[in-house]
Amino acid sequence: MSENTRTTLVLGATGRTGSLAVADLLAEGRGVVAYARRPEAVEPADGLTVVGGQLDDVAAMTAAAAGCDSILVALGMRGMDFSASEVMAGKPAPEGRTPVIMMAMPSIIAAAKANGIRRVVVLSALGVGATIDNSVFTAEQMAGTPLAPVYCDHENGESLLRASGLDWTTVHPGFLTDGPATARPVVFDAASGRKLTGFAATSRADLAAVLVRSLDDPDAVCKQLVMMSEAE
Ligand SMILES: NC(=O)c1ccc[n+]([C@@H]2O[C@H](COP(=O)([O-])OP(=O)(O)OC[C@H]3O[C@@H](n4cnc5c(N)ncnc54)[C@H](OP(=O)(O)O)[C@@H]3O)[C@@H](O)[C@H]2O)c1
Repeated sequence: MSENTRTTLVLGATGRTGSLAVADLLAEGRGVVAYARRPEAVEPADGLTVVGGQLDDVAAMTAAAAGCDSILVALGMRGMDFSASEVMAGKPAPEGRTPVIMMAMPSIIAAAKANGIRRVVVLSALGVGATIDNSVFTAEQMAGTPLAPVYCDHENGESLLRASGLDWTTVHPGFLTDGPATARPVVFDAASGRKLTGFAATSRADLAAVLVRSLDDPDAVCKQLVMMSEAE
């Protein structure tokens, strides 16, 4: 193992992307603190500390973040996975889902500031906020889909982070798959205005790698990065 002394607080470690990001971080020899509402669901590993707590518990998250130098957020509303055809058919969104990004962001910002942590990288989605301009779809088209409340939660929470003064990056993938990592995922600054093609399918393996890589990338600071897996 390398002499890597950095430690990252991970939110969403029990999720499909978050668990891959934890594995990538540990493989780099970095320490990980997984802060989870279901700590028993986080697979134990060397270098991994698991702390139980709720996303809106500022004191518990602040205590968990002690000794960390960065925060990686891979949260998502459960039960909000839709196929592309369901999205385009305007399937209604299930009701009663917790807006997790807004629930977590005030605690994330407070925990970072209390611990002197500057770097926060957040998993978002292509089409959130200004990144709709990087999609082939329009804001009007997306407004009537089941993704609308998910995008709204992301934008509300991420706007708090952008205003926080912290060194943030949000990563905006297209439709997620559980496919393998690809050799050359497409990643660029949303401000370029460049559009990704179609549904911009992105494997969670590529996404986790980009989230982890962004933690150490000074060029990614204060940027919205849009991405997709390598086109076949
Ligand atoms: N699906 C897509 O095609 C797509 C496309 C672009 C972007 N995205 C974005 O990707 C993210 C989802 O990624 P994923 O599919 O890899 O995640 P996932 O497997 O659905 O995992 C979601 C994570 O969030 C946690 N979480 C959810 N609600 C919580 C709450 N109330 N309190 C604490 N933790 C909570 C879950 O914890 P538990 O295990 O305890 O539930 C889990 O760790 C979302 O932000 C979504 O907007 C998705």
